[in-house]
Amino acid sequence: MSKDKEFYSTFFALMGGLAVFAILLVIIAGNLTSDVSDYKPEEIVLENIKPVGQVYIAGESEPEAAPAADTAVASSGPKSGEEVYNGSCMSCHGTGAAGAPKLGDKAAWTPRIAAGMDSMLANAINGLNAMPPKGLCMACSDAEIQGAVEYMVSNSQ
Ligand code: HEC
Repeated sequence: MSKDKEFYSTFFALMGGLAVFAILLVIIAGNLTSDVSDYKPEEIVLENIKPVGQVYIAGESEPEAAPAADTAVASSGPKSGEEVYNGSCMSCHGTGAAGAPKLGDKAAWTPRIAAGMDSMLANAINGLNAMPPKGLCMACSDAEIQGAVEYMVSNSQ
């Protein structure tokens, strides 16, 4: 009988201790997660998966970070003669490569200028020997090519 009593007193002391320990753990855990109300998983996920960029169609209200609209308009307009020359003609006409009449070389340009703008423009658009059609600027309009020819001529007289 005394053995049983000894067992029960040890057993309940142990259980009591564990119960107190368990309550302590609950209190500690409660303190650790006291800021649980600030945790908004939905907002965090939305922030993490938001798109890198946004597509918008002209006419719609554009996103604030979009580049200024006039930049795109400016680059799609007709290029000046100098721009076409720098982009498409200078590689040959700036160096005289492939026998191209050099910009500023009066002797090379005088007979061509004498043949007239119509002739020069036709040769520039259609090509002439090593001169490729449109100087390979297939996106250039005839007017843009003419601008480039005029730019070269006015700098070679
Ligand atoms: C791959 C080199 C090359 C490029 C690029 C090039 N040209 Fe030429 N171009 C030539 C050569 C070579 C000639 C001389 C052709 C000849 O007389 O046999 C020439 C001649 C010309 C002539 C004189 C045509 C004539 O009637 O005598 C014009 C005008 C001309 N090029 C305009 C242009 C323009 C404008 C561009 C750019 C849009 C351009 N070229 C780009 C090589 C080039």
